[in-house]
Amino acid sequence: ETVDWDPGQAAKGEYDHFMKKEITEQPTSLAQAIEGRIDPQAGRIDLEAFDDGAFADVGSVQLVACGTSYHAALYGAFALRDAGIQATAVLANEYSVAAPPVDDETLVVAVTQSGETADTLQALRLADAAGAETLTVTNVVGSTAAREADDALFIRAGPEIGVAATKTFSSQVVMLTLLAQRISTDLTGEASVDLESLLADLSRLPDKIERVLEESNAERIARQYEDCVSYFFIGRGLGYPVALEGALKFKEITYEHAEGFASGELKHGPLALVTPQTPVFAIFSGQEDEKTLKNAEEAQTRGAPVIAICPDDHPAVEVATDHLSIPDTRSELAGLLANVQLQLVSYHAANLLDRPIDKPRNLAKSVTVE
Ligand code: G6P
Repeated sequence: ETVDWDPGQAAKGEYDHFMKKEITEQPTSLAQAIEGRIDPQAGRIDLEAFDDGAFADVGSVQLVACGTSYHAALYGAFALRDAGIQATAVLANEYSVAAPPVDDETLVVAVTQSGETADTLQALRLADAAGAETLTVTNVVGSTAAREADDALFIRAGPEIGVAATKTFSSQVVMLTLLAQRISTDLTGEASVDLESLLADLSRLPDKIERVLEESNAERIARQYEDCVSYFFIGRGLGYPVALEGALKFKEITYEHAEGFASGELKHGPLALVTPQTPVFAIFSGQEDEKTLKNAEEAQTRGAPVIAICPDDHPAVEVATDHLSIPDTRSELAGLLANVQLQLVSYHAANLLDRPIDKPRNLAKSVTVE
């Protein structure tokens, strides 16, 4: 007698979808990303092949990426600028049209989960030809990006099967946060923040994500706003790339219209779209939150439900229509916790609509054409 054996199903284990499995894996994948790389007591970041001083001649950083990886790149560019380093994130598919100038002190970082995205490889090759130093932050050892870039940093997230990237985003963000502090240390002799404290908070991040996963009310929120017309996501500073990522995830797997905006941009146009049928997810990353709250209230005044993503004791909880709770942490990491809540909202919304969550129509895990 034979037993029907579906390898896909087996690998999913107890989960209905790879996406849910991969969201749930984040405490582990993040622990793997930082393992052996951070020493909170000593305030040290150890990035394998990069000896102390390896980044001492970096004059500026350009990050190139697509899709979810581009949102991680935006997060990384913010972290780098915050550390006093000139940095910009450019969509890889726009890079060939108008690349910012490079010289031999420019470090170009290709952020790519698969290491095979054609647009990103093309940007990497252009940067290399123009004389920049190149580095890839990737999940796949032996990928084209890893082979072609001068150096590689691996995020160690394990295989990601769901087309919509989840766990790889958080690991990319953590790697880029470490990279920013390493470059800052190499350039100036010290990190731009109290490194002992940042690294200690980073080592607590997997537990905090676990708490979000255990206590999330995202399914209730997804149900509550099931019949709306459009879904908006706003954030400021590090909350901005998370807003973009929240909207991308939502549209990819639910097929509903979703858009992410910088909080401050809401009043410069998108507010015209706001109605009681357009919930606004507001991410509070601890950066000028009072302004983001005002922006959210402007939407609320027009009848839009506002869902605040913030700790329980945050002032936004009193004002907002609904709340997705995240544990308290520093602003460098709050966006990652908020992002897990938003991944769960998208997942449950797509599930209610019975969408093929792991393989959304028209999309591919890795796009190897330009
Ligand atoms: C595709 C996937 C996205 C991904 C993007 C970049 O469009 O559907 O989920 O973010 O490629 O992929 P990469 O492998 O370069 O990170």
